[in-house]
Amino acid sequence: MVVDLRRTLWVAFALGCAALLSPALAADGPDLYGVHCAACHQPDGEGLGAFPALVGSERVLGDPHALTAFVLDGMGQMPAFRNVLEDEELAAVLSHVRTSFGNDAEPIEVDLVAEVRAENEADTETDPVEVDLPEDWFELGEQLFLSNCAACHQASGEGLPGAFPALAGSAYVQGNADEVIRLVLHGRAGMPAFGGSLENLQIALIVSYVRNAWENEAHEVDAAMVETVRGGGDLELEPTTPTTRPGAGN
Ligand code: HEC
Ligand code: HEC
Repeated sequence: MVVDLRRTLWVAFALGCAALLSPALAADGPDLYGVHCAACHQPDGEGLGAFPALVGSERVLGDPHALTAFVLDGMGQMPAFRNVLEDEELAAVLSHVRTSFGNDAEPIEVDLVAEVRAENEADTETDPVEVDLPEDWFELGEQLFLSNCAACHQASGEGLPGAFPALAGSAYVQGNADEVIRLVLHGRAGMPAFGGSLENLQIALIVSYVRNAWENEAHEVDAAMVETVRGGGDLELEPTTPTTRPGAGN
């Protein structure tokens, strides 16, 4: 009897532990939303200014395939999450926005995300954009980053919480290249403008570096592209297509 009771208690204890642990192991939609989406779309999904509301949005509630493709590849100021979120994470965060804030649509399956990711990868691979950079662009970009940016964003790219945003793992940095170049050229709030002090090639090297350092992965840019953005033009670089890194040995 005593042994049975102990075993029963042990099993109950083990099940309790599993129940406590499993939500932390699975991709957590609300958490991921807080980290990756809430700054723009707001914690309540109501959006703000240029950032559209996700509550009642046709794009959110409509075709799951189109929604997944949209968030994977971004559009305008909406960053691409292809290189930021795993399939399971993207499925969790999309399921969260489709079922929260009063939204009431079916969750998104991991398999669908994997399928859409593979389809669009195939599309973009056929159309690589040539960039004109020196062979050792990664090292050159790193040096320029260390002397111009690291005082605030840190050599690790982790930034300083509350003061300087992390560039490592940032969806913004790996998103639309036009936006990143424009920000470095013209600055914003506490972020200084570098358009006056750095030349196009130097900016191209820095932007290419931050988009590919610390496990970031996004298309490089060259001096001509910086010139285009300086002149108010747009790049035809999206969706983000990671290319090989000639200076990084792969
Ligand atoms: C840096 C700000 C920013 C972040 C971070 C961001 N978005 Fe967006 N999002 C935008 C902007 C801007 C648009 C409008 C894009 C357009 O239509 O040109 C948008 C549009 C959308 C739309 C389409 C809404 C509609 O009704 O057309 C969805 C869905 C969406 N975002 C989901 C997400 C999700 C999910 C995340 C997090 C994984 C996220 N966004 C993170 C800025 C952001
Ligand atoms: C004096 C400190 C400082 C320096 C130096 C600096 N930044 Fe920033 N940076 C900031 C601040 C502050 C912000 C946040 C701006 C805001 O609130 O919109 C920022 C934002 C950014 C962002 C946007 C991040 C995001 O996720 O929204 C990028 C990209 C960036 N900086 C790149 C750079 C690069 C590249 C350099 C070097 C050429 C650089 N910064 C130099 C302070 C700095």
